[in-house]
Amino acid sequence: MSSTVSLIVLTVSSIVVLALKRANRLRPLPPGPPGWPIIGNLFDLQQELPWITYSNWSKTYGSIMFLRALTTPIVIVSSADIAFDLMDKRSAIYSSKPASVVDEMIGWDFALSLMPYGQRWRNIRKKTHEHFHQMVTPNYHSKQMKHIQAFLRHCLADTAKQFDSSQVRQLLATIVLDVVYGIRIKDMDDDYIKNIVETLEVFGESKTFGKYWVDFMPLLKYVPQWVPGAVFVKFAARSRPVVEEMLNRPFNATSNNCITASMLAKIELQPDIEKRKEEETHAKHATGVIYAATVESTYSLLQTFFCGMAMSPDIQQRARQELDSVVGPERLPTYDDQDRLPYVQAIFMECLRWMPTIPLGIPHSVIQDGYYNGYFIPSGTIIIPNAWHMLHNPEEYPEPDKFNPGRFIKDGEINPEIRDPATIAFGFGRRICPGRHFAKDTAFLVIASILHAFDVKPSVDENGFELDPTPQLQGSIISFPSPLNYRLKSRSEAAEKLVRATEL
Ligand code: HEM
Repeated sequence: MSSTVSLIVLTVSSIVVLALKRANRLRPLPPGPPGWPIIGNLFDLQQELPWITYSNWSKTYGSIMFLRALTTPIVIVSSADIAFDLMDKRSAIYSSKPASVVDEMIGWDFALSLMPYGQRWRNIRKKTHEHFHQMVTPNYHSKQMKHIQAFLRHCLADTAKQFDSSQVRQLLATIVLDVVYGIRIKDMDDDYIKNIVETLEVFGESKTFGKYWVDFMPLLKYVPQWVPGAVFVKFAARSRPVVEEMLNRPFNATSNNCITASMLAKIELQPDIEKRKEEETHAKHATGVIYAATVESTYSLLQTFFCGMAMSPDIQQRARQELDSVVGPERLPTYDDQDRLPYVQAIFMECLRWMPTIPLGIPHSVIQDGYYNGYFIPSGTIIIPNAWHMLHNPEEYPEPDKFNPGRFIKDGEINPEIRDPATIAFGFGRRICPGRHFAKDTAFLVIASILHAFDVKPSVDENGFELDPTPQLQGSIISFPSPLNYRLKSRSEAAEKLVRATEL
């Protein structure tokens, strides 16, 4: 059965590829690594650390490269300026997302970040924007602050040789469940946490670009589960209930004073029952993706912060001088301090740049044939922005592998002449991350509070010797620094008292 399906798929693909080649002979495609007959670059896409391989390819083929997975055209962009030209300036045609059989089978097709451009996307994006634009995110500061203070108290209690980094994930899940659904959780054993961790594992696995060929050969989805080798079909069947639980369970348990409650209150005013049902589904889809997107991306960013600090006592020292002069020894930092702490802001910017959470962005797709710099870009091309490469461009960020927040500072202020990594790390054009202000607010207060009250040190082995805290970026669509060799120690008795006082 599977060999018959594969044969049909390969025959149809070869005919389409030959037809495409003939049609494109007069329309020059961007250069790229040579592929194999019929399958093109299908094997080339499966890389351990793809952002590094793609970055190396760009040294040979240039900042805009063309690849093909069977009949699917792919463009990898390695220059920030080209990414802006395409996805910002031509956003009318570069704002869609590739259709994915993988997403459909697992049930990810509800997610805004993976949804094709169109009316449904517009409606859900509007709901998300209403609750996360820069003017409304301060409404969540009190919840963020309360949960971050509880996290600081956990940090005080964690005197282990290695910090329990799962506390960071718990903090983020706690914040987002409270802000979005009004749900309180107790600890890491809570079922919500188990489910979100599992969901995000499914996400990482399913979005490893090029791993599952079903996206390039949709007919493979009909291969029955019992056929040997039908790995993906089994994975999809196992994963779907996990994703459904993540979407439905917190939504159905929503309480008052949260984003979902306010979305639903507005929807209740809709007199048309059918329209109301559709709006409710959109609200569920909007909140589901906010929940999933918040936990893992901000977790990755904060782990980068902790690793970067464990490597750099001098940077901690400089941040503390700023915190001591602006905040002083009598209190912990608050959101009101944000604008007066440029070096702390620069640490956040350097975390986004040094180990970008989503190193290859979330691919866009083009909905119309067109040309860029003389190269033909066919309709349906998948656009992959190599954010890692852009953020490691030595012309913009000298010594790019070095963790150095000072690169963003001039005369004691943020230097506007250096490109803000947020303009790349949060994506492009109409699809730019709507949660970026919320993510920044959470990260700012964690970073400022930790630096004010704790020393971040390398973790130690059983003999008390310090381990090397230098991490590597690993993972797939959402990536993480690894290993996490750090521990926390309160800075002073006075700092410890400030943290304990938050319980009162
Ligand atoms: C450090 C934290 C975060 C990073 C680095 C990040 C990065 C990104 C990136 C690269 C994209 C893809 C943009 C594109 O397609 O060009 C994206 C999309 C998205 N993000 Fe984030 N994000 C973060 C946190 C958050 C948070 C906290 C939320 C929720 C409040 C969120 C919600 C979303 C949503 C809903 C989309 C889909 C937007 C669309 O396709 O229209 N993100 N994010």
